[in-house]
Amino acid sequence: VKKLLIDRQGKRQLVKEGEDLHTHSGVIKEADLKKVKYSGQVETHTGKKFTIMEPSLIDFIEKMQKRAQIVYPKDSATIIGLTGIGSGSKVVEAGTGVAGLTMMLANAVRPEGKIYTYEIREEHQKEARKHLEESGLLEHVEMKLQNIYDGIDEKEVDVVILDLPEPWDASDHAVKALKFGGYLVCYAPSIEQTKKFVTSLPRQFQETQTMEIILRTWEVSEQRCRPNTRMIGHTAFLTFTRKMGE
Ligand SMILES: C[S@@+](CC[C@H](N)C(=O)[O-])C[C@H]1O[C@@H](n2cnc3c(N)ncnc32)[C@H](O)[C@@H]1O
Repeated sequence: VKKLLIDRQGKRQLVKEGEDLHTHSGVIKEADLKKVKYSGQVETHTGKKFTIMEPSLIDFIEKMQKRAQIVYPKDSATIIGLTGIGSGSKVVEAGTGVAGLTMMLANAVRPEGKIYTYEIREEHQKEARKHLEESGLLEHVEMKLQNIYDGIDEKEVDVVILDLPEPWDASDHAVKALKFGGYLVCYAPSIEQTKKFVTSLPRQFQETQTMEIILRTWEVSEQRCRPNTRMIGHTAFLTFTRKMGE
């Protein structure tokens, strides 16, 4: 079990239960951490105050170590929203990477649904498993050390999501795996990949739409309201298409 610890400057860290915690402003005793359970204030031995609370899924995703580039929440939220993924959905994705997207998907399909996630690199799968375990989502995920270009085992799938270098090599497998009306989603950093994916789609896919999600946050106060100076620039192009033919 992990807790989220936030200092006065807003710096965050995830801490394990069951041991004293050494921070840059002194030690917090395990007994004090236990006392506040999931939320409240704790003090170090030097009297510095910290806020402690149960981490949200986004806290986990922001703090986890990232060996591979993850799908940002602005993009995963759009994928979940536009394909109608919810409790009970059956979803296939590749590659797992370090499970940035898998965690968002697993959270959306629980408790009835399942995520089947394909990955070819063992070290990525290992890292992803750790993240899923720590966030309590592993039971909603089946992890496969398999190359998705060799085929998809699942049938009657609601959504297939591809985040890997040659998504077009998995489109024919997606036709066989998807239910009629199911969605195929491609997350591709470059427009060259997106064009090749779209122009080589099997004829069963229709209503194809490519988009980019641009998120700009604002600073809002009594004195002034203006967009923040820094923003996440480009992440990827999202392409949605639907199996509408046999
Ligand atoms: C950019 S990462 C995926 C990141 C992931 N969506 C996330 O949010 O954490 C791409 C992953 O695809 C894996 N991969 C590449 N080709 C693959 C294939 N043919 N089948 C399965 N996984 C593959 C890579 O090893 C890598 O871990």
